Amino acid sequence: MAKEVVNETVKDHEYAPIQGIDSYIAKCLNLAYGEGSKALQEGRIAGAQSISGTGSLRLGFSFFSQWYPHKDIDVLVPKPTWPIHKTISSLVGYEPKEYRYFHPTTKGLDFEGLKEDLNAAKDHSLVMFHVCAHNPTGVDPTDAQWQEILEIVKRKKLFSAFDSAYQGFASGDCQRDSYSLRLFQEHTDDIMLFQSFAKNFGLYGERVGCYSVVTSSQAERDIVQSRIKQIARPLYSNPPIYGARIVDVVLGTPEIRAQWDQDLITMSSRMAGMRQGLVDKLKELGNEHDWSHVTSQIGMFAYTGLNKDQVTAIREQHSIYMTMDGRISIAGLNPDNLEYVARAFHGVTTGKEF
Ligand SMILES: Cc1ncc(COP(=O)(O)O)c(C=O)c1O
Repeated sequence: MAKEVVNETVKDHEYAPIQGIDSYIAKCLNLAYGEGSKALQEGRIAGAQSISGTGSLRLGFSFFSQWYPHKDIDVLVPKPTWPIHKTISSLVGYEPKEYRYFHPTTKGLDFEGLKEDLNAAKDHSLVMFHVCAHNPTGVDPTDAQWQEILEIVKRKKLFSAFDSAYQGFASGDCQRDSYSLRLFQEHTDDIMLFQSFAKNFGLYGERVGCYSVVTSSQAERDIVQSRIKQIARPLYSNPPIYGARIVDVVLGTPEIRAQWDQDLITMSSRMAGMRQGLVDKLKELGNEHDWSHVTSQIGMFAYTGLNKDQVTAIREQHSIYMTMDGRISIAGLNPDNLEYVARAFHGVTTGKEF
């Protein structure tokens, strides 16, 4: 069964083409943009297999900095964001600026700040968005907020750079999770996308990703595709085949695809359950802080609101590890350690004995 869907042109020990395995790339694009995507149906999306999400960003920012016709622009990333966004945009010559995103008081989206900052950007600027399950905050705009953001993007002719490292991890439904990207590509061609399959396929070490750019015509697509290959060739020649073939087979085999879809539901529901469990346990312990952000945030991370001193204390006293900004991996919680973690949170936020 699987044999039918693997790209037969790439044998076990052969090189992939420079852009990677074509049947894999087609499936990545379908998964993200949706089979109904006009740009996809019209063959206007250039795509290349990449060395996971990081490699996709590196390839994409190199392409963008070399070929984007507008030079006097801002590069805007959310505050905060996954730090490598800034590193990579600096490496290709930009000075990334932050737009307001996380509101420390509400621990939700600073929507007014976000809109003000995008409105203040230079026309044609690049704006980095997280498709879903924003890392590190776990805070995503609502559908209505995305629609408002799109209006600013259109009015200011902004170029949207979408990072998709967690498709399926937010709601458990891949289609639902790519709402922002699908919405934007219905209304603008100024889009590029960075996909990672590290998390949703558990292929961390295989480095499986995809970089794509929406263009305005098939002719432009061919030119963009060729430019991307020119960047990839002297970097790594061609991408590794093993992990991409796994994704190709899973997405291309209906029974296995159905099982993967189910796994995403299992995984995302488990994480939602752990969020609720942590909040419930804290309540049981008599903790009076407002922890509602832990359940309203989504995906693999929670931005707990613990400050640096509390993060240090919880590490020193209870051997619980998180980044200094108070971000925990929800995937690290399970029914056996939930009580222990809740007690430690209670201890460091109230000063009461563990
Ligand atoms: C937002 C975001 N983008 C991209 C990546 C890239 O991951 P990888 O290179 O492992 O695919 C990550 C990983 O944590 C991430 O959180």
